[in-house]
Amino acid sequence: MGSVRAMASTRLLCSFNNRVADSTKTLARAGWSLSCRRNVSSSPSRLQSCMPGWVIDQYGTNGVLTYTEDIPVPTVNSPSDVMIKVYAASLNPLDIAMRGGYGATLLKLKRHPMSVLGSDYGSEFPLILGRDVSGVVVDCGSEVTHVAPGDEVWAAVPPWKQGSLAEFVTLTEYEVSHKPKSVSHAEAASIPYVANTALSALVNAGGLCRDSSSNKRVLITGGSGGVGTFSIQLLKAWGAHVTVTCSQNAEGLVRGLGADEVVDYTAEDASEQLEMMEKFDVVLDNVGGETEQLALGLLKPWSGAKYVTLVTPLLLNTDSMGLLNGMCQAGSSLQSKAIQNIISGGVFYRWGFYAPDGPALDDVSRLVDAGKILPVVEAQFPFTQVPQAFQKLEQGHARGKTVVRVTEEDDQRSEEFVQESYTDTAEFEQERREPAKQH
Ligand SMILES: NC(=O)c1ccc[n+]([C@@H]2O[C@H](COP(=O)([O-])OP(=O)(O)OC[C@H]3O[C@@H](n4cnc5c(N)ncnc54)[C@H](OP(=O)(O)O)[C@@H]3O)[C@@H](O)[C@H]2O)c1
Repeated sequence: MGSVRAMASTRLLCSFNNRVADSTKTLARAGWSLSCRRNVSSSPSRLQSCMPGWVIDQYGTNGVLTYTEDIPVPTVNSPSDVMIKVYAASLNPLDIAMRGGYGATLLKLKRHPMSVLGSDYGSEFPLILGRDVSGVVVDCGSEVTHVAPGDEVWAAVPPWKQGSLAEFVTLTEYEVSHKPKSVSHAEAASIPYVANTALSALVNAGGLCRDSSSNKRVLITGGSGGVGTFSIQLLKAWGAHVTVTCSQNAEGLVRGLGADEVVDYTAEDASEQLEMMEKFDVVLDNVGGETEQLALGLLKPWSGAKYVTLVTPLLLNTDSMGLLNGMCQAGSSLQSKAIQNIISGGVFYRWGFYAPDGPALDDVSRLVDAGKILPVVEAQFPFTQVPQAFQKLEQGHARGKTVVRVTEEDDQRSEEFVQESYTDTAEFEQERREPAKQH
């Protein structure tokens, strides 16, 4: 009975989609693609103007996180916009930092370029945090072709945009990708931001790629956190040899994800263990500080080896010294380290940064569906407990990711059920009328 119902609704949805596709083609020829796309979308903008979410109105500790139902819905404003109903979000160390004001100077400039002229130009508040989303497209701009309303998608939300700890988030098509089908929204939300960061660091700064990694030795410091647990799996999928540093109690986790060799950084002889190993082609440093000097000495000299750190002073400098001085200071510090390391050991010293990249997430989605990358979700919180989720992250010692379920997937199922029942009834009504018309 259930499967007959499912078949019926699938058939109906197919014929509905075919009809929409046919009419899209016809209207596109007549230059009407925008209005057709708009007709099939179910934009909540026409139904509601406000949405629930967690905002901050000032920087500070956890107390500044406020739940409100009065956030203006972020509607589609440009032809490349994609509006997403958020099912799950996840937290990153950046959310804790941004809550306290980290990066405010540079991010404000990106949001409001005129703010370079003074503080009167635009405010970032109320600010929505949350850098990952897994959800469903509800509306698209006229030039969007890769996704359509109803598609399940995932994305990393750039830090200069309003975040995903709200009912809806709007991004550009380039930032959005189809979510892997084999995992839930909660699992999917654990991946995009760390994936875009790791890919940007390993590919753009580290010079690695799927086809050139099989003979490479890579060291990942801080392998038990969000970026580390993703990077281990990506590099193993690419065939690299992966060594990881982490606490002793995370060894089982990182070995389970494929790490070939593991060094407990809390052990007294951790440095000696690393120094006795064969040298590395690439280091991805998720820890920084004292680890930097140690890691630089572990690279193969004069062979194009690369040290890539995700722990950079750029935003801290612009926050503390102002835009111009901060950027100059960061630039000169990067330059002097790069020159020093290339001259002394022939190794490249680089900074890695998150970069928005939906097409890269398409590749990751395929790796997840192929079972080569597993989501590593350490903790999940309901939407009512966002401050508790921040508290968890703030305690440190992450083992993968902390996820917030913004829309409970049971709610999604009940919404689908309502939709399905409605379409079944509509189909039944249609079929009942058609024979009558034929006679
Ligand atoms: N530049 C960018 O665009 C960018 C983007 C994303 C992330 N990041 C930065 O990259 C870093 C990693 O991010 P993440 O999301 O993976 O952080 P995370 O989830 O908080 O993970 C950090 C991990 O490092 C471990 N750890 C701490 N000290 C360590 C040490 N000395 N040696 C080895 N492991 C150590 C922690 O576990 P234990 O403490 O239990 O050992 C934890 O598992 C953060 O500093 C983050 O801010 C930068």
